[in-house]
Amino acid sequence: MPLGVCYYPEHWPQTWWADDAKQMQALGLEYVRIGEFAWALMEPAAGQYDWVWLDQAIETLASQGLNIVLGTPTATPPAWLTHNQPDLMRIDAQGRRLGHGGRRQACLVNPQYIEYSRQIVTAMAERYGQHPAVAAWQIDNEIGNHGSARCYCEHCAAAFRQWLIQRYGDLAGLNEAWGTAFWSQTYSDWQQIPLPNVPVGGGHNPSLVLDYRRFASDQQVAYCAMQAEILRQHSPNRTILTNIAPGDDEINWFDMAQQVDTIAWDNYPHGFPDWQAVAMYHDHIRGLKRQPFWVMEQQPGQINWTPTNPPVPPNQVRLWSYQDAAHGAANVLYFRWRACWLGQEQYHSGLRDHANRPARGSTEARIVANEWQQHGQPEAAPRKVALLVSYDDHWAQQLDPHAQGWNYWQLLRTIHRTLTSYGVGVDIVQRGTPLAAYQLAIAVAPMLDNPAETAGWREWVQAGGTLICTPRSLTKRRDNRTAPDGFPSGLTDLFGADVAEWSALDPAKPWAVKFGETSHTAPLWMEVLNVSHANSLATWSKSYAKGQAAITAATYGKGLAVLMGCYPTEEILGDLLPRLWPAAQRLPNEIERIELTDGVLWFNHGEQAQSVKLQGTWHDRLSGEQCSGDCSIESLGIRWLKPL
Ligand code: GAL
Repeated sequence: MPLGVCYYPEHWPQTWWADDAKQMQALGLEYVRIGEFAWALMEPAAGQYDWVWLDQAIETLASQGLNIVLGTPTATPPAWLTHNQPDLMRIDAQGRRLGHGGRRQACLVNPQYIEYSRQIVTAMAERYGQHPAVAAWQIDNEIGNHGSARCYCEHCAAAFRQWLIQRYGDLAGLNEAWGTAFWSQTYSDWQQIPLPNVPVGGGHNPSLVLDYRRFASDQQVAYCAMQAEILRQHSPNRTILTNIAPGDDEINWFDMAQQVDTIAWDNYPHGFPDWQAVAMYHDHIRGLKRQPFWVMEQQPGQINWTPTNPPVPPNQVRLWSYQDAAHGAANVLYFRWRACWLGQEQYHSGLRDHANRPARGSTEARIVANEWQQHGQPEAAPRKVALLVSYDDHWAQQLDPHAQGWNYWQLLRTIHRTLTSYGVGVDIVQRGTPLAAYQLAIAVAPMLDNPAETAGWREWVQAGGTLICTPRSLTKRRDNRTAPDGFPSGLTDLFGADVAEWSALDPAKPWAVKFGETSHTAPLWMEVLNVSHANSLATWSKSYAKGQAAITAATYGKGLAVLMGCYPTEEILGDLLPRLWPAAQRLPNEIERIELTDGVLWFNHGEQAQSVKLQGTWHDRLSGEQCSGDCSIESLGIRWLKPL
């Protein structure tokens, strides 16, 4: 059974550890993560290690048959290090040097910090790498969290210039790629190139800023790779992973995921606006490696860091655990074992409360453990629909949104949410992923051109795929300079249409589009499409563009290429989707439907009982009932149905 918990033995009297381990085992937990913030206890003074307590903790947990996930402690350097070498600390975008006290203060580009990290990771790996109870390693903790991926210290400035030399070879190449003829930006020495937190009038060159963001991401990825290499060497056959905090978008997680065996994320649904956003992150994380992932930290009850920190109603933790599994989580660890008496997170709940009584979350974890022991773990069926995303596109649009309110992640969320509300399961994958496994792909504002990739799209459409491109498709080169031909650059023949005119829209003055007689508000962005050999699926119905194409579809080989000139709101996409994907059917609000390899999981995320319409007769594994026709699902209830 793949459930577990995050535990901090160093927060509790040692006399409690044995009982804690017993209780974990009794609850049906199999994994326990420890160690990830305990550098100061492992190495109380430079080069002097104290493993006694950690040996004891590991033995105590192992004696109950628990598998240990050992965290490397590099998110929290000890005070002897930060105090003696303040230059290891990051400099933020405002130019301020960080100090000791929280976490993620150190610059992961600083060669000395890298060396100190190497030493502690090597020491840990040498000591515990072959321990039979150590099943996995978590590298660091939430690399990039707290806005830590972009640093502006002198080491980063030097490393950025080296990165640019690698990328462009010579200054002529860089000047061409960045278009430095604009505003007299031509560089004649690498040392002249600034970091983009230097104050300037009129903003920095968008090509420079995008490259800095790529550079900063690459450094975080390299730091993770450095630790992975040490762990692989000293701890063979253990799963090496790192955990992601959702919303940390300064790192290209597709790149990061390549450094580890498995990727993990920390799922706190109360940190999201709604359950659909949780579903989206699950699909994003699964798409990073297109493999099962771990939920390394699952919210177990109320938390301490949202603006409101509301209560968690009964059955919610069980439902979250099922949602994790149905989206592809292989393992789910709750955060944390017991609510803490110390430090910054005293208001955070755990599976046990402050007085060491079992909290409601632990009762539900027990139920999940029992149910999965009895029925196995739900396993998601492969998805046929892909959302194509890219951090480069996100960063380039973030630094130049152009339209007030334009937000790449919001766009992705809107599209994903629409698909979810029509019961269409999706993979969120990186642009460039081969599409053979998919029948429908929606490219999310694929702004930066990549000719090799678009050639792949062309072949895939020709072979029968349906491709949808949103506004802002292929309008720029990879270096963030505008493409010199019509948009979508290089693919106007595939779409049988091109962008005749485009603009941001004033939030107070949205346009509208019409499918047949149905009209929908179309905010944010307009592209008036010039049709050569496509069908117009929707037209602009307001403004001077009235009657001109807003969405087109062109057959190409055996497939279809759909170009959206309007922003895909839920209404617009909801109208378009069933025309292209007949299985799409609007579900009742708050209902999620996930296809499994051997059935379907239905979730009611709402506060009221609801019914869903079933075709055929099904067996509910959880209740043992037979279901057909209108099938009721209680509030926060789950139906795990197998066809009969
Ligand atoms: C996570 C973090 C944990 C803990 C938790 C509290 O982001 O990895 O260390 O801070 O949040 O919810």
